[in-house]
Amino acid sequence: MPAPFAHLVVTGARGQVGRELLRLAPGARAYGRTDLDITDAAAVAAVLTPDTVVLNCAAYTAVDAAESDPDAAFAANATGPAVLAAACARARARLIHLSTDYVFGGTHDRPYDTGDATAPATVYGRSKLAGEQAILASGAAAHIVRTAWVYAGGTGDFVGTMRRLERERDTVDVVRDQLGSPTYAADLAAGLLELAARPGAPRLLHAANSGEATWFDLARAVFEEVGADPERVRPCTSAAFPRPAPRPPYSVLSTRSWTAAGLTPLRPWRSALHAAVHRKIHAT
Ligand SMILES: NC(=O)c1ccc[n+]([C@@H]2O[C@H](COP(=O)([O-])OP(=O)(O)OC[C@H]3O[C@@H](n4cnc5c(N)ncnc54)[C@H](OP(=O)(O)O)[C@@H]3O)[C@@H](O)[C@H]2O)c1
Repeated sequence: MPAPFAHLVVTGARGQVGRELLRLAPGARAYGRTDLDITDAAAVAAVLTPDTVVLNCAAYTAVDAAESDPDAAFAANATGPAVLAAACARARARLIHLSTDYVFGGTHDRPYDTGDATAPATVYGRSKLAGEQAILASGAAAHIVRTAWVYAGGTGDFVGTMRRLERERDTVDVVRDQLGSPTYAADLAAGLLELAARPGAPRLLHAANSGEATWFDLARAVFEEVGADPERVRPCTSAAFPRPAPRPPYSVLSTRSWTAAGLTPLRPWRSALHAAVHRKIHAT
């Protein structure tokens, strides 16, 4: 359990990662979007003091909608982080900011490390990369933590959706041609709190549960966890589910940077999924 952070500020606190942070650090000051819009410089400045660590979970995360709404995506994902970073630099506060595997092109055949070239293929990815660049240029004491395929097991995320579909359908078709790093929001939140106590850590880090999986693997594992026959999950290709934003075929994140910084590695994705599903089962 992380140490209490009296001056921890969580922005975007009602999102899936924000909620997990507050569960682990209930003493943190929490700001949902209606309490604090991260693009509002005066409002942001008003919540900062020199010993504040801001954990920015605020973002425009609707990857498909972003394709037809780039202004909104860039406002939350590029202008917002720029405003936060400038305010942190002025107040001598620290910023921990979440970014994404979607800043990469998605064509590697080995895990993406922090030094690999970025080449976002979507509006969402470009807006998140612009946020990273604004933070790095700001001079703020900041860490950018790229993560991927985040779920908490709730109703709106992939794991929660698979649990619902298992109850509603005989079979479910799930794509098997995209490989990534499924990451449990609770594990990520614990890692972010560890990082909050480590001001000397590198500015750019990757944090994800270890290992790699396709969405098909993840769906089958959810079925296994709830005692259902995983054969009811059938493989298909991305062509079966055309979407406005193309999904990267390969976006596994290397967590070498995280481990090299002496931060606790996040457990293997399969163990994390077990914990997530059983926490939800026991909560319902
Ligand atoms: N989910 C993933 O699979 C994933 C993968 C890689 C990286 N990430 C990154 O991880 C971070 C957290 O993601 P998440 O899954 O927790 O996202 P989430 O559940 O969508 O939460 C984001 C929160 O930010 C709020 N928000 C949007 N614009 C805002 C603004 N201008 N000011 C203040 N709050 C604002 C949203 O409020 P409204 O709902 O009211 O708009 C929402 O509550 C994001 O930076 C995301 O890019 C996520």
